[in-house]
Amino acid sequence: MSKPVAESATNLRYQALQLMLQLQKHSGSLTRLLPEAQERVAASEQAQLQAWIFGWCRWSHELEGLVGQLLQKPLKQKDQDVYLLMQLGVFQLKHTPTADHAAVDETVKVIKRLKKPWARGVVNAVLRNYQRQSQQLHESLSETQQYSHPTWLLEIIKTDWPEQWQAVCLANNEQGPMWLRVNCLHGSLDSYQDRLREQSMESSVLSEIPDALLLEKPVPVTALPGFEQGDISIQDGAAQMASQLLAKYQPEGGRLLDACAAPGGKTAHAAESGRYTQIVAIDRDEFRLNSVHSTLQRLNLEANVNVVLGDAATPTSWWDGQPFNAILLDAPCSGTGVIRRHPDIKLLRRASDIENLVALQAQLLDALWPTLAPGGVLLYATCSIFKDENERQIGHFLQRNPQASLLDQVLQILPGDRGMDGFFYAAMAKPHV
Ligand SMILES: C[S@@+](CC[C@H](N)C(=O)[O-])C[C@H]1O[C@@H](n2cnc3c(N)ncnc32)[C@H](O)[C@@H]1O
Repeated sequence: MSKPVAESATNLRYQALQLMLQLQKHSGSLTRLLPEAQERVAASEQAQLQAWIFGWCRWSHELEGLVGQLLQKPLKQKDQDVYLLMQLGVFQLKHTPTADHAAVDETVKVIKRLKKPWARGVVNAVLRNYQRQSQQLHESLSETQQYSHPTWLLEIIKTDWPEQWQAVCLANNEQGPMWLRVNCLHGSLDSYQDRLREQSMESSVLSEIPDALLLEKPVPVTALPGFEQGDISIQDGAAQMASQLLAKYQPEGGRLLDACAAPGGKTAHAAESGRYTQIVAIDRDEFRLNSVHSTLQRLNLEANVNVVLGDAATPTSWWDGQPFNAILLDAPCSGTGVIRRHPDIKLLRRASDIENLVALQAQLLDALWPTLAPGGVLLYATCSIFKDENERQIGHFLQRNPQASLLDQVLQILPGDRGMDGFFYAAMAKPHV
């Protein structure tokens, strides 16, 4: 039996609040925590919970600035729940179509479940004062609050992209569009676009990404014709460039190593291309590797890929000594190109992570280079927009390995560029002996 509306509205806010507390305590990422939280709300409210929590992550720095101005003194650490509840209320008032009276009244009702009756008045007053003073409050926000990015992150974006930083920050706070990858083994892009049109789903193509369709409006994956049959996958346009760049720089195909493969989007795309005699897909995360198996199974490509649990930094533990003609190193990175899809990055990443990631990326490049055949190509990719992880990383690698040559210029896509995620690509060739 479904819950009465009022009770369910309170529960939805209460569960959103619990998730916000978990994220603040760094108890896990949204990818892990959200599905668990969705189990605790009605099926019809799961999408709403996701929209709110994504929105709160996007705007949490702005909300901190607004609520901070409305409180006469900061709340105690043990009352973080009350403070975050105020943020959730202001978020609904500012960023959602929730009716103002519902945003205030329903938020205040959550207090009962927190068993802090003293907070009823203060939450109510903060939300009502926000309604009255929103314009002045917004005008008094600092830059990091206005763009809703942590200071350290905003500083790097400004330094690396002095002309584009505002556009980058605005794109980071948008919801990413839905991109599809048509499985060319099952049919053509045009015929799939017709199938979408029959279901009243409009999409557009981008000439430089041959298997990609950009949906005008996002839909649940289950609504996509032929999804279960493997006719289609969800993958951003920028990520789809990996397969295409490999084909451009290593047209002979041969043996491909996908060195950081999970959850398997790029492995599957390479397998769909049918260009490789063998594909070895490795990842050191066993849990994430399960997604590679399920993706390949759905696409009926399991026979085409050898999936291996292993550490790409120590090839002796998994490499059979046969060189690869192409290597894709989609390296672990800051994820600063995909903040719009993973807004919890703004809460969970620390400035100190970057140095460790840069060191790991260099270690992976150095370890994998010897496994590349003479005449082979290594494509380095990240979903980062930081120069330390990208062009400077590649510059240092080329200094350490003067025999390696950069093919073309590096490619940096910034978030929102033609609807795509932020991504970086650099292709390097090993000379023929
Ligand atoms: C950016 S993700 C890869 C995304 C994937 N290529 C795709 O398109 O679906 C980076 C991956 O690197 C893996 N990883 C990190 N360090 C690794 C290492 N030393 N060896 C192998 N995999 C590693 C992580 O587990 C993660 O799955």
